[in-house]
Amino acid sequence: MEFDSEKLRAYYADAPEDITLEDIDLERRPKHVSIIMDGNGRWAQARGMDRTKGHAAGVDSLRETVTTCVRMGIDVLSVYAFSTENWKRPQREVDMLMHLFATTLMKELPLFHQENVQLRFFGDLTALPKKTYDVFMEGLEETKGNTGMIFALAVNYGSRAEITRAAQMLAQDVLEGSLKVEEISQAALESYLYTAGLPDPDLLIRSSGELRLSNYLLWQLAYTEFYVTDTYWPDFDRWEFLRAIRAYQSRDRRFGGVKTK
Ligand code: FPP
Repeated sequence: MEFDSEKLRAYYADAPEDITLEDIDLERRPKHVSIIMDGNGRWAQARGMDRTKGHAAGVDSLRETVTTCVRMGIDVLSVYAFSTENWKRPQREVDMLMHLFATTLMKELPLFHQENVQLRFFGDLTALPKKTYDVFMEGLEETKGNTGMIFALAVNYGSRAEITRAAQMLAQDVLEGSLKVEEISQAALESYLYTAGLPDPDLLIRSSGELRLSNYLLWQLAYTEFYVTDTYWPDFDRWEFLRAIRAYQSRDRRFGGVKTK
């Protein structure tokens, strides 16, 4: 994705001591960055606030991260916003999150347009409250002509459910005769995943220190580099993002082969 380096430099002025924009090689920036946004609840609790306040603060970090990725010319940003397991949270928190998704999306649509961002969703949206579902559909419709960064929100997403759904659709196509058993390849299977057509993530960031995948993009993360920071999601900012890119660029990605350089 193209980007304006002057604008990026201005955005990354006032560097903290440990990192500056010069520490990363923009030519080798990842194409697809995916984020497990964790720690909203703990951030709020540490401040004696209700957990839901942490989610509201998390929206600000997400807005900054979308802006950062656009400025840096990242092709795809995907984020894990709500898992198939998150329905088990207290009803009040689930309701608040669903409301927050709808209101945030509506409010941010002008930003997406201004930044030429195209929205996409991973997950079974049919299970969402009608209002949230309707706003998501409107967001899809409104941004489908945008040609800049793809911003994908995983909502009611679970990787095992995604792969199971792919298997069902694939079996259906075999039954109907539009796909032959010999034609089932990795690429064919990928075309049934929510991520169809997107490159696999190059970098997965997880905030708040947890070392697990939590049923997120199990197929797509096969060769992805992981970066885990102890920072809670509401404290994640453009500088944390830069630290993640720096760590990513220090890795030697071999994809199962031998040294590339
Ligand atoms: C994880 O923190 C965060 C979530 C389950 C929700 C993420 C949602 C947002 C950041 C709002 C995004 C808004 C839109 C429009 C997508 P946690 O509650 O698991 O924190 P904890 O691990 O400290 O309990």
